[in-house]
Amino acid sequence: MRLRPFKKCDADTIISWIKSESIFRYWCADRFESYPITGKDLIAQYEELAFNDDIFHFVAYDASGLIGHFNIRYPDKDDIDTVRLGYVIVDDKRRGQGLGKKMIKMALDYAVSYMHASKVTIGVFDNNPSALNCYLKAGFEDTGITEVYSCMGKDWTCKELIYCPSVITPEEYISMREAVCWSSIPVEEARAGLSNSYVYCIREEGRPVALGRLVKDNGYVVYIADVIVLPEYQGKGYGTKIMEKLLSVIRESIIPEGKVMISLLAAQGKEGFYEKFGFDKRPNEYYGCGMHKWIKYGE
Ligand SMILES: CC(C)(COP(=O)(O)OP(=O)(O)OC[C@H]1O[C@@H](n2cnc3c(N)ncnc32)[C@H](O)[C@@H]1OP(=O)(O)O)[C@@H](O)C(=O)NCCC(=O)NCCS
Repeated sequence: MRLRPFKKCDADTIISWIKSESIFRYWCADRFESYPITGKDLIAQYEELAFNDDIFHFVAYDASGLIGHFNIRYPDKDDIDTVRLGYVIVDDKRRGQGLGKKMIKMALDYAVSYMHASKVTIGVFDNNPSALNCYLKAGFEDTGITEVYSCMGKDWTCKELIYCPSVITPEEYISMREAVCWSSIPVEEARAGLSNSYVYCIREEGRPVALGRLVKDNGYVVYIADVIVLPEYQGKGYGTKIMEKLLSVIRESIIPEGKVMISLLAAQGKEGFYEKFGFDKRPNEYYGCGMHKWIKYGE
């Protein structure tokens, strides 16, 4: 599945996926007054919104054509850290095959990696279990906040969901490294490393207490870096949570028939922790030592 910006020629196809008024209201709530609408109506609304420059329309596609559609917008123009997804829909002939979840994960990835959002929100009607489950499985959480809309002569309850990526600032990352007495690195290196890797961070009362990173070549090579639990939080299961999350992210990324080799460098005396997750110590009967070398500027 790939994403690209919406084009006017997509509108008729997207509207053809809406086969009933209830699906229509699930999709747009009250943003269009009457049902049904045409591709032209959708284009007209998008053209009007274009003057605001706070909404971006996407489609998902594969070799067989369009799969789905969604928007990402800034609900508050002054807060560019928060974005909201909307108008989510998958081709009615391809629903229930995991494509919605995949598309939402890609949308979240876009919002976090390219728009640098620290919060993504979405609304979903509680009488729409496929959408609710799709969003929860993609990583959204239920805030418990609801809003009531009048749809098709009834009151529909809309649940407010939120996705907060476990991101960490370069400064926080550097201070975590210092807390476990690792060598200091310049903030530019910290920033580049964080933005080019998958980062999982657990916070307690807003403060990052545990961290792990995945550095991948998107082929078979994966490196686990910077598994850190702050000293006062060690021995409480945070390290296991970090490793389980990183390994589950790796498992989900493996393509059919594919395999990956995961490497890491254990700190002195920590080998047993990684052995619990199936890692083999080196050297062993088959493999030599893992090796590394630091090179400083100008050397
Ligand atoms: C909502 C929608 C985008 C979801 O896409 P989808 O491709 O059908 O969903 P997926 O197949 O990716 O399902 C994701 C998860 O939800 C679960 N799910 C799907 N339909 C479900 C249903 N009716 N009841 C309970 N769970 C359901 C799936 O089992 C899957 O969980 P899994 O990962 O554990 O297997 C799609 O159904 C759609 O276009 N609906 C019409 C428009 C709409 O309602 N938009 C939502 C606007 S808020």
